[in-house]
Amino acid sequence: MQKIIAANWKMHKIRPQAGETAAELALALKGGTPLERLAVVFAPFTDLAVVADAVAGVKNLEVGAQNFYPEEQGAFTGEISPAMVRDAGGEWLLTGHSERRHIFDESDALVARKTAYGLEKGFKVMLCVGETLEEREAGHLRDVLDRQLRTAIEPLDATLRARLPQSFAIAYEPVWAIGTGKVAGPAEVLDAHLVTRNILTDILGVAAQDLPILYGGSVKPDNAGALINLDNVDGLLVGGASLEAKSFLQILGA
Ligand code: PGA
Repeated sequence: MQKIIAANWKMHKIRPQAGETAAELALALKGGTPLERLAVVFAPFTDLAVVADAVAGVKNLEVGAQNFYPEEQGAFTGEISPAMVRDAGGEWLLTGHSERRHIFDESDALVARKTAYGLEKGFKVMLCVGETLEEREAGHLRDVLDRQLRTAIEPLDATLRARLPQSFAIAYEPVWAIGTGKVAGPAEVLDAHLVTRNILTDILGVAAQDLPILYGGSVKPDNAGALINLDNVDGLLVGGASLEAKSFLQILGA
């Protein structure tokens, strides 16, 4: 399976900064990505067009939006539609990121609606799941992943399920490891990814074997190599360490 290394720039970079980083990535990757890995940059809305233009034509370097609202158009003040994302050059959508769930109170139901809508509109969708520290300490890891995965994936109809192998990735991101410098240990990552794979298999059958499961949470150049080589780790979702082209490129080649 092609490994995916994704950058989540969150609320960072005005356009000149975004353009500069994207141009550095494009220059470094124009001859190909390390090990044919797929790089995806989730940029802020205002940077999307600048980033998409800078990386246009570079194979295995794709662009996506960190958020959107699941409607075609209408009276949704402050929101951005998938059509607008596409117009700006984005082909990926992120759903269920812990900051959307926990800071902006996105419910499992909204995450499910967004996931289905993004797939329906022909986007590649990366669905994030993960437990808080309290949930982990209370022994609820499995239940949380089960609920988050099932509510988003079970409602998908046969047409959308058929698109999953080309258009869907999961990112397991323990909330307590995001932006904290506290990376999950190899045993924790192995366990959570196996749990995730098993839940996916329960929902989707053998098709689950081909779905990439990324790890996210304080991934840095010095821990990326160990993480990417663990069983059932098919990629990495990188926040802080993706802001500089240099460290993102190190992770891409780890
Ligand atoms: P981090 O963020 O790498 O800064 O921990 C990861 C993420 O939120 O996707």
